Amino acid sequence: MTALNEAPSADSAQPLAIGERFVVVDDVLPEAVFAEWAAAERRATFRPSFSSVNPMFDGMSFFSETAFSAVEVSAESVAAVRSAVDAATARLDESSPACRDEFRFWRYGRGVGLDWHDDGASRAAAFILYLSATWRADWGGELEIVDCSVDDVPCQYSDVGRDLMNAPVLRTAIAPKPNRLVVMLGRTFHRVRKVEAGAGDTIRRSLSGFVVAESSARDPGVAER
Ligand SMILES: [Fe+2]
Repeated sequence: MTALNEAPSADSAQPLAIGERFVVVDDVLPEAVFAEWAAAERRATFRPSFSSVNPMFDGMSFFSETAFSAVEVSAESVAAVRSAVDAATARLDESSPACRDEFRFWRYGRGVGLDWHDDGASRAAAFILYLSATWRADWGGELEIVDCSVDDVPCQYSDVGRDLMNAPVLRTAIAPKPNRLVVMLGRTFHRVRKVEAGAGDTIRRSLSGFVVAESSARDPGVAER
């Protein structure tokens, strides 16, 4: 039984939403653990990145490549994120693949997004934990998901933007609310909407990585996006 003054464990957090191919969990980490991760993100060293999806129009994001085994966060706080990802993944996938050790912190400023894509067949799922201190519904930056398999989208033109107009489901938009975790199965079309000008100097901050089949969880050959 959980004592009243005890913060709920990540495993017990109830999802805000469960789709066919995604899970959203709000307030996924206890406050102190979230603060520790947010501080680690602020300390990290970032480098600029042109989008590999649409380098012309996505704008420049910044990333910091690290790993759960290397990041300067307590073992308990690392375990809290990993167990939250595992618990959310288990809701979507009977085989519960393993969280890769490597992950990236990402920063998107105003005008920056990531166009429609899927993460490729080698990734069982992707996870994203939002680390901004605050966000607003009018600041954009939503993760938009077409909640069906890429195989269910008629590939008529071999042009994702055009073919998605014939998707059999409407898209779901998930705002980058602080301390929100999203786990999304692979082979799902998604994009990040551009951060709106109204966000000013507020940066969309996230931690994201992949979960893969257990046997390849430590396989360095799996390419990052
Ligand atoms: Fe992606």
